[in-house]
Amino acid sequence: MEHLEKIKQLIELREKAKQGGGENRIEAQHAKGKYTARERIEMLLDEGSFEEYDMFVTHRCRDFGLEDQLYLGDGVITGHGTIDGRVVYVFSQDFTVMGGSLSETFANKICKIMDQAIKVGAPIIGINDSGGARIQEGVMSLAGYAEIFHRNIMASGVVPQISAIFGPCAGGAVYSPALTDVIIMSEKNSYMFVTGPKVTKAVTGEDISVEDLGSAGVHTSKSGVAHFRAESEEEGILLIRKLLEYLPSNNLEDPIVTECTDPIDRLEEELNSIIPSNPNQPYDVKDIIYSLVDDREFLEMHRHYAKNIVVGFAKFNGIPVGIVANQPNYLAGVLDIDASKKAARFVRFCDAFNVPLVTLVDVPGFLPGSRQEHGGIIIHGAKLLFAYGEATVPKVTVTLRKSYGGAHDVMSSKQLRSDINYAWPSAEIAVMGAKGAIEILESSNVAKIEDPEERAKYIAQKETEYIEKFANPYMAARHGFIDDVIEPRNTRFRVIRALQTLATKKDTNPPRKHNNIPL
Ligand code: HXC
Repeated sequence: MEHLEKIKQLIELREKAKQGGGENRIEAQHAKGKYTARERIEMLLDEGSFEEYDMFVTHRCRDFGLEDQLYLGDGVITGHGTIDGRVVYVFSQDFTVMGGSLSETFANKICKIMDQAIKVGAPIIGINDSGGARIQEGVMSLAGYAEIFHRNIMASGVVPQISAIFGPCAGGAVYSPALTDVIIMSEKNSYMFVTGPKVTKAVTGEDISVEDLGSAGVHTSKSGVAHFRAESEEEGILLIRKLLEYLPSNNLEDPIVTECTDPIDRLEEELNSIIPSNPNQPYDVKDIIYSLVDDREFLEMHRHYAKNIVVGFAKFNGIPVGIVANQPNYLAGVLDIDASKKAARFVRFCDAFNVPLVTLVDVPGFLPGSRQEHGGIIIHGAKLLFAYGEATVPKVTVTLRKSYGGAHDVMSSKQLRSDINYAWPSAEIAVMGAKGAIEILESSNVAKIEDPEERAKYIAQKETEYIEKFANPYMAARHGFIDDVIEPRNTRFRVIRALQTLATKKDTNPPRKHNNIPL
């Protein structure tokens, strides 16, 4: 064959690979409102940056007539490219080729880019749209999944791993995304479950639809498996790009500090009066977050799950930070099982990738009751305590209002190695609220008062005394547990100066194989 002929052949082969499962299947994919695997990569990466690997790979299965069904690339597109000029590795499952099902060679392709991403120190982005294990390949496919899982584990905390679910993701296949840092699900067309409706019905008798079992809605609000629910695939892709703005490419780098035009000393007058005078009245902590951060930009994770705690990324004078804030607007901002798990995972995510933590505290305590106790709030609450205690990134804490009991210790207290702890004058830092405290301390005295009016007066007087003595930041400040009591309107400036000062902070934990966080 002439050289020019050979080049023509190469071009034809490339074109063929780009067709995936063929025109009809691409049309079917579009008819479902889904993009193809290639279109998704194009949307995700900087224009013209994609370098594809293994375009000519085909499967090795010679059973069930598969020997005649060979598709170049074998149902997954892999390679690397850039996002905002930074290298990322990507795989995108191609549903048009045998339902995006995973074969031995399909898995090998993914493993190849994962191995390289770990060596290079670049994020791994996986776009999932697959019918799961390629049934005809049997155990080869199971082994392929396990190879991927193992690499997910090895990459964890080394390079950021982000999963988008834009189609089916079922059976053991769910465990690859589950091992990654962030899961984004598209509102339509995506679902995740370990066992589908048919097996569920056969084993348990429960009748349930695909949507009720594992839709984006379910996983972002009930199970907490997914962090983001995207209205469209475009939005999902934008979220991936946005997330990477706050993360370094690997654990040995720091997040990139960008130029900031939002004045650092911007005074936010309304913060001086944002805390209601009635301590039981809620307010939206997100209003405070928006007014503190650069350009009011806050990328909230897990927005629909455990709403009593808010977590997400923002910047302070261009410095990326992770924000954790109790939300008085929902269940009074109490810490419960879900909130503890959500925040603990976020704190560890930030710490793994050198993202400083800013914590805004307004917590009445842990949620009481048998549901919480029997559900293991002890162990789950300990996760958050552990996560804060082990984190070595710069930690800045601002107590806005309540900070009571065990929850006070948990929420990035000084003793958990928080670096700079501020409090607003409205802060109440104590073992418990006035009502509970007086009930316990004064029960025998109260019992001696027969007249109900006199009794109420006595309790009110004792509560007022307690509030005056304990419901303020100064007792903690006197002991140095609070570094300074600050004017709310000046919080942005104080937090920025704290973060700038802590930029060169170095701290370590004792050497060990790994810790034993109460999972
Ligand atoms: C081989 C598969 C496949 C699979 C789909 N296809 N899934 N081929 N192995 N797992 C093929 C179909 O045969 C079909 O080929 C084409 O892909 C498109 O599939 P359709 O069924 O036509 O598409 P749709 O109606 O959209 O349904 C999608 C689906 C369904 C819901 C995903 O295909 C499905 O239920 N697939 C099986 C899912 C499953 O049980 N997988 C195994 C899970 S267990 P043709 O040529 O006919 O068009 C698992 C274990 C992992 O994954 C273990 C890891 C540890």
